[in-house]
Amino acid sequence: MSRGAGRPGPRGHDRSGKDRRRGTAAEQRRRGTGGQSGGQSGGQSGGQSGRSGARGTRTADTRQQSGRPAPSTLVELTFLAGLRDVLHDEVVTTLAPRRAPVDVAGRDDALAVRLDGPLADVQRLRTAVAAYVVLHFDVPRPRSLTSGDHLARIVDAVYASLRVAGSSSFRFEAAGADSAVFQRLAALVHEATGLIHDPQDGELVLRVRRGAPAGSTAHGGRATTVPDPGWDVLVRVGPRPLSARTWRVADYPGALNATIAAAIVRLAGVRDDDRVLNLMCGSGTLLVERLLVGPAAAAVGVDDSPAALDAARANLAAARSRATLVQADALLPLPAEIVPSARDRDLEVPISTGSHDLARPGGFDVVLVDPPWGGLHGAHAQAAEVHAGVLRAARAAAAPGARCVVVTHEVKVMERCLRDAADLWTLRQTLRVYAKGHHPRVYVLDAA
Ligand SMILES: C[S@@+](CC[C@H](N)C(=O)[O-])C[C@H]1O[C@@H](n2cnc3c(N)ncnc32)[C@H](O)[C@@H]1O
Repeated sequence: MSRGAGRPGPRGHDRSGKDRRRGTAAEQRRRGTGGQSGGQSGGQSGGQSGRSGARGTRTADTRQQSGRPAPSTLVELTFLAGLRDVLHDEVVTTLAPRRAPVDVAGRDDALAVRLDGPLADVQRLRTAVAAYVVLHFDVPRPRSLTSGDHLARIVDAVYASLRVAGSSSFRFEAAGADSAVFQRLAALVHEATGLIHDPQDGELVLRVRRGAPAGSTAHGGRATTVPDPGWDVLVRVGPRPLSARTWRVADYPGALNATIAAAIVRLAGVRDDDRVLNLMCGSGTLLVERLLVGPAAAAVGVDDSPAALDAARANLAAARSRATLVQADALLPLPAEIVPSARDRDLEVPISTGSHDLARPGGFDVVLVDPPWGGLHGAHAQAAEVHAGVLRAARAAAAPGARCVVVTHEVKVMERCLRDAADLWTLRQTLRVYAKGHHPRVYVLDAA
């Protein structure tokens, strides 16, 4: 790094005029001033050529000194396969960006969006796996990233992440991350931020990758004709992925991935006066995710396993959420005291659900179901009985007009059961998702 380029770290950061008071990342951590102040310093468009747009060049410093609005932050959001549309919808409704998110060229697991508001807002996204501040560099090889201006932008992005949530260490995710070039880059980032370089377990992740190939529309920008795609540096926001939930204090085998649970909650719809039932609730992932996005008039979880209910109780407490947990067989009629009666407006002709005949329909507006799969909490041999039974039980407890979402790995069984239950539930939508080597399917149903 040439001296003329300006030494990064406290001095490089000072240029923004924002961080002199805050000191180094290490000092911030000691003082507990992670802050929520947005990502402008790390998220400005990058490059050296003076272009604007997705890969524009002017720095945050320049714009702030000129009195013009702070630049937007280009953010990449990763998601589990199958959740692209749900995340897209969540970004639009939650963050209200000026332009809708776009697919990232060459990737099938990420959306890119420009944020004008605080970078910390990405923490409100529940269906994203992780958020990264994206920097693009029109350089031929990673070695150039160690030069003063480039390094300063990387350091700014690291600080932007640290202001959202503190980290004490960092690591690279890159081809050749153990090479001399990355060792040098690591030493410079450490010098500038105080963060420890821990190649294995570093909290803050810096991804370095080839830029999008020429002619593609990376990050929603215009097609580029630059022959060399350059390099992208992505700085993860926060020490852990967004999908890691602090409320998950109890491990439970077969617990649902939280971003899938959050997607299910969105697909079911969220209304403040909903009465929500979670059949086969396990450790309460669906209940917690539902209660964290908005109030509910009632929330009830049912499982026949005391261990599951203990885990759900602990997770709910950690989330500061309240729900009634009931130990019961979800295939049998639920104890009358936990089924709210239908509201007056819902009272209609009684429904017949086999063994669940009710004089009056139940009162749950939303029923979420995560039945056992594989050999974990049940056996494939019983899958037909379980799925048919739980569809009947869900309908018996549901109010007229209720919505139900079932996530299951037993796809063939479920589809057969749904055909047989056509008088109870109407299929609105299915979604194939992917998590940890499994392809469960999500069924969104409306009470028939
Ligand atoms: C796949 S797990 C649910 C995992 C849960 N979504 C979570 O995130 O922890 C299925 C659950 O169904 C419960 N279960 C199986 N058969 C049941 C039955 N007949 N009645 C009630 N619960 C049952 C199991 O105890 C297990 O907790």
